[in-house]
Amino acid sequence: MKHLNQLDSEINGQELFFIPTMGSLHKGHLSLIENAKTFGLKTIVSIFVNPKQFNDSSDYEKYPRDLERDFQSLNQLGVDILFTPNEDYIYGDNLVNVVDSGNIGKKYEGNSRPGHFDGVLTVVNRLFELVKPKKAIFGKKDAQQLFLIKEYVKNEKLDIEIHEGDIIRDSNGLALSSRNQLLSNNGLVTAGGLKRHLDTLKEIYIETGSINESVNKTLNTCQDSKLDIDYLHILDKDTFDEATEETRNAIIIIAGKVEGIRLIDNIDFKVEL
Ligand code: PAF
Repeated sequence: MKHLNQLDSEINGQELFFIPTMGSLHKGHLSLIENAKTFGLKTIVSIFVNPKQFNDSSDYEKYPRDLERDFQSLNQLGVDILFTPNEDYIYGDNLVNVVDSGNIGKKYEGNSRPGHFDGVLTVVNRLFELVKPKKAIFGKKDAQQLFLIKEYVKNEKLDIEIHEGDIIRDSNGLALSSRNQLLSNNGLVTAGGLKRHLDTLKEIYIETGSINESVNKTLNTCQDSKLDIDYLHILDKDTFDEATEETRNAIIIIAGKVEGIRLIDNIDFKVEL
């Protein structure tokens, strides 16, 4: 595997499948890479902990980093290029196009973490400019991020095919995330409650068809003082606005804190007529 801090002319002209990450790789990332490899293009993984998407500097400092272990995993998987730019290489020329994530970028996760999605879209756009990939893949766990990236690529008419990687869960149902390493064993068990909230809400919603009633019932039935729920919303997956009677592709998104660590999750499903 080639390890580059800057992208030289060597990569020009190659058809690349790009897997952007912030490192501290887990099985969720590895499944994105395995998925990407099935397309037969050269694979390039970036590791860059993007300061612009952290609205809280202590969250940025705490974010887990383990380049040595990541390098071994990527090498074993047969990734072609590992790209680990520094901040100056990404943002240093002051010509970076700062992307506004718009109305949806300010809701839900964007409401709790102001500026987060502007930071995500800004770095993704910059990485796309540098890597010039043919295809790129993002995980479904970050559903709002995935929605906004797909919208951005469509609106800007970027010639990049966006792929989606399934959520990988542990035996408790907890969606894998680099942040899970910051939890104790008890914390991991508590965090499994996020998925249970999602399943309960889906069931009640399908039964009653009423969003407010379903959300309130769910929050009342699953009370665990160690799981601090920030939001729970039923959305239309095609617009990312609140679901309506017309919604056929629904997604339920949840965010909460366990032991001070912020976690997000979601499930999507079809609403039958
Ligand atoms: O999902 C992530 O790991 C990050 O938000 C991304 C897409 C690599 C941008 O920094």
